[in-house]
Amino acid sequence: MDAFAQLLKQEKLPLSVILPTYNESQNISTMIDSIADALPRGMRAEIIVVDDSSPDGTGDIAQSHARSLGSRGIQIEVIRRPAKLGLSSAILAGANSASGEVVVVMDSDMSHPPQTIPHMLDEIKRCDIVVASRYVKGGAVTGWPFKRKIVSKGANKIARYSLGIRIKDPMSGFFAFKRHIIHGIKFDAIGYKMLLELLVKARGARVTEIPYTFINRRFGKSKLDSKVAVDYARAVWRLYRYGRAAPTERRASVKFLSKAGRFYTVGATGLLVNYFASFLLTVLLPNVWYLHATIFGILVSITSNFIFNKLWTFEDRDFALKKTLAQYGLFSGFSAFGALVQLSMLFWLVESQGIGYPIALVVAVATASIGNFLLNKKWTFKERVWA
Ligand code: GDD
Ligand code: MN
Repeated sequence: MDAFAQLLKQEKLPLSVILPTYNESQNISTMIDSIADALPRGMRAEIIVVDDSSPDGTGDIAQSHARSLGSRGIQIEVIRRPAKLGLSSAILAGANSASGEVVVVMDSDMSHPPQTIPHMLDEIKRCDIVVASRYVKGGAVTGWPFKRKIVSKGANKIARYSLGIRIKDPMSGFFAFKRHIIHGIKFDAIGYKMLLELLVKARGARVTEIPYTFINRRFGKSKLDSKVAVDYARAVWRLYRYGRAAPTERRASVKFLSKAGRFYTVGATGLLVNYFASFLLTVLLPNVWYLHATIFGILVSITSNFIFNKLWTFEDRDFALKKTLAQYGLFSGFSAFGALVQLSMLFWLVESQGIGYPIALVVAVATASIGNFLLNKKWTFKERVWA
């Protein structure tokens, strides 16, 4: 080997593309060719096909296609696993044997256009993970039946809310990452959701989304079945627990519920404060009119509720006078508004809906207090509602 060839060999490999396959005999060759065509001329890359002993011979086809591709600077490796062991674990196997600086993961059924890869390579210069997304502006899905669209959106919402993930398409199977970011991560690799796990576990990674259009496969069929759905639930559950165990960044849902819990506790103490303040006033001033005493109790309890919520529920320790007064004004306003909502709702439920008082009361109190919580969270204490 001459010196130049040796140098070439030592140079870092810029790209590994991982292609998991199970029964993709009609797609795999086209896939490999279109990736080769889409890459910038002369770019060195490896394509790693991870085949789970597909009965239709995908592994052999990939292997012989590798030989025909020859001299284009692209090497092809075929990893053969003994049985169908799942998509995520196939991707992981590919990533473990990859040597590229950047790893691109995509489906092998032509649903993910290889033309998007150069765009990903460009973006990843400025971040750690690039997600090709169907749900950002400019992205789309073609050829999916209505039912599949709904399922996808639903799974998407679950991931985003329960795991506090910000990006629009955490279920994407088409993404790129810098290989070094997976060092030291222990993957569960359950089911399909490799990206989800990466997003949860690669702390501090900078993520960018770029649009692409998912084109439903023309050949072969999807392997997404009910087992994959069950695996999905398991994977999300494990990631949720993982997120709770890691103390640094608590899940939005947990934060939201714990604040709501504090807000209600404060509300309950407010009732006691209200009662005792009114009562105390009648003891101190025996001649006071009982309605005046009650108004006094209400004002005191609104004030104590405000202070407890500021300090404890919303953990706001800033008592600058102007700000505090403005907050107090809003808080009192919302309390009055809440009382009004409660009264009118109660009246409406009992009078025109014929609902019994006890149930109507519960519904009215719940509505008013939830409303109060949300209004104060957003406007008085200036927090995002879902956080
Ligand atoms: N090696 C291996 N082992 N490959 C697998 C396995 C497996 O157990 N299961 C699926 N694959 C391969 C398929 O051959 C295909 O290349 C790719 O993984 C995706 O499988 P499909 O069955 O085509 O998935 P899909 O089109 O229904 O789902 C796609 O969209 C989802 C978003 O809604 C995928 O991109 C998913 O990753 C994505 O979440
Ligand atoms: Mn597919």
